[in-house]
Amino acid sequence: MRAFDLIAEEWNGRRREPMPAIDLFLPLVPTGGVMMDAGCGNGRNARIIASRSRLLYCLDSSANMLTFARKNLRGLKNVKITRASVTKLPLPSASIDAAFYLAVLHLLNANQREKAFSEMRRVLRPGGKAFITVWNKDQQKFHEQRSKKEFPVMWKKEDGSTIARHYYFYTASELRLLAKKNGMRAESVFYELSGRKTEKKGAHNLCAVFSRA
Ligand SMILES: C[S@@+](CC[C@H](N)C(=O)[O-])C[C@H]1O[C@@H](n2cnc3c(N)ncnc32)[C@H](O)[C@@H]1O
Repeated sequence: MRAFDLIAEEWNGRRREPMPAIDLFLPLVPTGGVMMDAGCGNGRNARIIASRSRLLYCLDSSANMLTFARKNLRGLKNVKITRASVTKLPLPSASIDAAFYLAVLHLLNANQREKAFSEMRRVLRPGGKAFITVWNKDQQKFHEQRSKKEFPVMWKKEDGSTIARHYYFYTASELRLLAKKNGMRAESVFYELSGRKTEKKGAHNLCAVFSRA
């Protein structure tokens, strides 16, 4: 998504800490495996994921976001950073023990979503897990758009201009269905706010853990 090339520098300035939702996933992550941070952005989550993994692939479609990921993850010997789309992963089938999709799957169009979930299943090893966060539409800031399934959300730049990012809003039952349709099991689907499970209303993220049989 080109929008992220345009906002990469400001994104990197504003998003330094790992996203709080990752605290709910980490106890479920097997240590020492081969992992993937798909849509890794500036790598803010990758350092902590890498500390649990033998090898971590960090992938993103934005060259500019990856420039910051390379800076932020410098010195980590078990991290491989590559420009790639979640719709066509440059990884062998059944090679990944844990795949992180943090705030990326909601940026895809219908065709890309179909490919991304199929690719997710392809690269996971039997027993491998995918850890997913997408934005929850049922929060106050999206109240005016509550009847829409997808819409642009603006990034306000420091110079006063805005960059539109197009978001697709999944429901919990839709995520469960997508797991099933793509040969995975939805182990859990839950709402999160500030690193805690919470009720749907007001939650920042909708989260899911999928496993491949
Ligand atoms: C909201 S950021 C989240 C970054 C990171 N996961 C985090 O939590 O900080 C979304 C990222 O997904 C990337 N992205 C968007 N579409 C993508 C695609 N089709 N394949 C790979 N990355 C993509 C963007 O370039 C951006 O870096």
